[in-house]
Amino acid sequence: MIVLKSAREIENMKEAGKLLAAVHKQLHKIIKPGVTTWEIDEFVENYLKKHGATPEQKGYRNYQYATCASVNDEVCHGFPRKEALKEGDIVTIDMVVNLNGALADSAWSYAVGNISERSQKLLDVTKEALYRGIAASLPGNRIGDIGHAIQSYVEGEGLSVVREFIGHGIGSVIHEKPDIPHFGLPGKGLRLKEGMVFTIEPMVNIGEWKTKMDNNGWTARTIDGKLSAQFEHTIAITKDGPIILTDQNEK
Ligand code: MF3
Ligand code: CO
Repeated sequence: MIVLKSAREIENMKEAGKLLAAVHKQLHKIIKPGVTTWEIDEFVENYLKKHGATPEQKGYRNYQYATCASVNDEVCHGFPRKEALKEGDIVTIDMVVNLNGALADSAWSYAVGNISERSQKLLDVTKEALYRGIAASLPGNRIGDIGHAIQSYVEGEGLSVVREFIGHGIGSVIHEKPDIPHFGLPGKGLRLKEGMVFTIEPMVNIGEWKTKMDNNGWTARTIDGKLSAQFEHTIAITKDGPIILTDQNEK
């Protein structure tokens, strides 16, 4: 069942999204060689508490941390750890913020110091893929139009789109219907409707799209050990088009 959100509910989720965006803006300044993902996780948890919010991922299906921190070949759901990030790494920080019961979800891939041209291209293409997916999220379009916009662009750039993890509806719980694959066929799937709120969160790989699961039962990494990046926003569908609830550029 798809829960359509009222304007009021979208407004509340947007407040959560604004706070989440403010956290990412801080992380742009904090993430550099020598910092650990453990410290980043502590920073995020403290920042949210200070602003009257909580990290929704902590305790979700027994997940233990405020953030997911996925380094280099880790695709998603990496655990924060006490190991310093190194110059040239890329790291994706993903979090769900709960502000007064309203949720927002956003992941961002960061460069650690100077990175290679190849890594920078991966980040650029993945971010552009997210924005192309958002641009395709018009009321009346179909879910396949989103996946198609992302997949055709990414594959045209010689990179690949992860299939095992997809975007999702979000509201008072992290994962709701509908499913939003980052691959697909134009004109296929459910029609997008005003009041839908969901994430678009393409994970893009330099090598093969396939992933394998670590022994911890959470962390997915690329099957060939090559790099993976991810950018994610929570968006709301309105009659005038999509609104990004986790936008970092909003004044
Ligand atoms: N933020 C993640 C997503 O985009 C949710 C992960 S749930 C967790 O779907 F418990 F693993 F954190
Ligand atoms: Co997320």
